Amino acid sequence: MSNQTALLRPATIGSKSFSNRLVLAPMSRTSAEPDGTPTAEMASYYAGFARGGFGLLIAEGAFVDANYSQCYGNQPGLVTDSHEAGWRTVVEAVKRENGKIILQLIHAGAVSQFVERAFAPSPVRPMGEMLQGYGPRQGPYDTPGELSVNDIRAICSAFVDAAKRAEAAGFDGVEIHCANGYLLDQFLTPETNLRNDTYGGTLEDRLRLTTDILSMCQQKTSPDFLVGVRLSQAKATVQDYFWPNGLEDARVIFSAVAEAGANFIHLASDKGGYTYHSTAKTGENLTAFARSLTGLQVIANGGLQDIGLANQVIADQLADFVSIGKAAMLNPDLPKKIASGAPLRDFTFEMFKYGVSVNAQLKWEAEQRA
Ligand SMILES: Cc1cc2nc3c(=O)[nH]c(=O)nc-3n(C[C@H](O)[C@H](O)[C@H](O)COP(=O)(O)O)c2cc1C
Repeated sequence: MSNQTALLRPATIGSKSFSNRLVLAPMSRTSAEPDGTPTAEMASYYAGFARGGFGLLIAEGAFVDANYSQCYGNQPGLVTDSHEAGWRTVVEAVKRENGKIILQLIHAGAVSQFVERAFAPSPVRPMGEMLQGYGPRQGPYDTPGELSVNDIRAICSAFVDAAKRAEAAGFDGVEIHCANGYLLDQFLTPETNLRNDTYGGTLEDRLRLTTDILSMCQQKTSPDFLVGVRLSQAKATVQDYFWPNGLEDARVIFSAVAEAGANFIHLASDKGGYTYHSTAKTGENLTAFARSLTGLQVIANGGLQDIGLANQVIADQLADFVSIGKAAMLNPDLPKKIASGAPLRDFTFEMFKYGVSVNAQLKWEAEQRA
């Protein structure tokens, strides 16, 4: 038994209990059927993390409507009966391993690599280039069209319908993706939201679509079903972004999502890792602040396969859970390894040499064994 005891302590969110504080971070593996239906391969992929001891899995971002929400080819969706049936198979496989699983719901907005013409809060061309390894499109982003108020209301309804389908499919909850430069974060970010209607202007107005989605999802699902939110400062294509007014912005954002009924806050990081991205421009630790301000359960993220640091984050009560992304792909049994003190396999971008899909990973792993 290792001495990482804080990480291995059980915890709760709302009425749900979790065997430990280790969460699988959502990771888009673009392994669904071309129409977005989750596959049997995805069911066995997610079941592997439950068998490996993760207290909670957050499944990759599923697109929420057939209009402009899809980010990538072969991304799973949750719009049709076929999507719902595919996800039910995933959930059942995870439950057979006594796992808990939440589905992330996402709208790509301006950074879709899938739709012919992307739509966003304002016609602002995203910085950076489309993500490599994802398709079908590559290269610089185009300037998106501007969403009408009716489009925005339809997007809110699409998130709510997807949350209802997620509950019907057996998920323990949903995570609303308002991070990393995707649609809801485009609304939140002043540089990409130039609107002067009710969805733009003050930070509260820029948060309105997210808070509407959170409160409607809570109202339209049962009290046991979790509705959380993922936030971040960094964008997938702009690493060095920090909320411009530091702690003051954090206060408004965390209070608003708590007020809207979020059950948890998941603060995402990127290449700079937890310590870098979860620090406000004004210097404060944001997961600890979110926790003390709202009393909600908070999930920390970013490079926390550094198990000493991850354990410290929990032991020092900076967060309630830690989510693990890249390292989990090569260590689906990471919690069991922590418990036994076994070494972790080091993540390497080499594993994406055939692509980011589960199948591409299996091909690379077979090559490593040969
Ligand atoms: C292949 C891959 C796919 C990802 N897809 C998503 C996603 O669908 N939704 C999301 O919020 N974050 C996504 N992320 C970000 C991770 O959830 C996580 O925040 C990031 O990898 C940092 O955590 P880590 O240092 O433990 O890897 C993805 C990351 C990777 C490597």
